Amino acid sequence: MSQGSVQELAALAADSGKKAMILTIASGKGGVGKTNIAANLAICLAAAGKRVAILDADFGLANLDIILGISSKYNLSHFIKGVKNLEEISQPVCQGVDIYCGLSGVEHLAQMTDFARERIITALDSLADNYDIVVVDTAAGIGKTVLAFCMASDHTILVGTPDPAAITDAYTLLKALVINKYNGRTSLLVNMVHDDAQGRKVYRQIASAAAQFLNVKLNMAGVMLRDEHLISSVQKREPVVLAYPKSSTAKSLMAVAARLGRVPLSSSTDEGFFRKVVNWFF
Ligand SMILES: Nc1ncnc2c1ncn2[C@@H]1O[C@H](COP(=O)(O)OP(=O)(O)OP(=O)(O)O)[C@@H](O)[C@H]1O
Ligand SMILES: [Mg+2]
Repeated sequence: MSQGSVQELAALAADSGKKAMILTIASGKGGVGKTNIAANLAICLAAAGKRVAILDADFGLANLDIILGISSKYNLSHFIKGVKNLEEISQPVCQGVDIYCGLSGVEHLAQMTDFARERIITALDSLADNYDIVVVDTAAGIGKTVLAFCMASDHTILVGTPDPAAITDAYTLLKALVINKYNGRTSLLVNMVHDDAQGRKVYRQIASAAAQFLNVKLNMAGVMLRDEHLISSVQKREPVVLAYPKSSTAKSLMAVAARLGRVPLSSSTDEGFFRKVVNWFF
């Protein structure tokens, strides 16, 4: 991978006075909860009054639309080919949230040329003109596309779990960002823990290694418990914050969103707030 090209892509996105915060969700290891976190955080942020775009940058196994129960005629492949503009491929999810569906399938993976990647990264800039926050869901791994989206973002949330492989992979991704001179904020969201103490322990492990060996500050985004409600919500194809607004996962994600959107926690954790979110959706 050429470091220069990843940095050039970041510069492309940073070029023209963008307004929105670009928030990328990444992890290294697969199956740690990125897509669920991206989808639900976007809804929480919209419920807090933000205009939010969610971009499915998991080229090859795009599934944000499935988790959100959306079916879309057009996706980023139509945008890349120049058949549709960005507005034409967007689809409303609920009040305040639009989704930009990804491309699925092996042929699209093969098509993820430098040109296609560059076109989408550049598009982030025009998305940033129309929204307050752009949430980007990325693929597993630390390939060039994942790194490019992280580099183009103001804030990267790394998702980890207590699984040693997930810890190592989150750290490796952070290291790749440092090597590429990422100048955005990085935070860790620890998912699938038994309790808060376990989550904090995982955070301390990665954050202290990051401070010692990479000389970088890793912030704490939050902790999410292993929760059957999340599994059920995926089966129902409904975001967990709407399907089970009182679940621990919904409350954790509301707290993360409140910090990100600088919304007072009290307004995001009361029941009325969740009801408002649910009303907006249906
Ligand atoms: N807090 C949780 N509690 C229980 N199960 C969870 C939790 N978070 C994620 N999962 C499980 O992990 C599965 C994968 O989640 P998700 O698709 O969001 O991960 P991902 O990181 O986006 O995966 P990929 O790397 O393949 O894109 C979920 O369908 C669910 O079964
Ligand atoms: Mg995913």
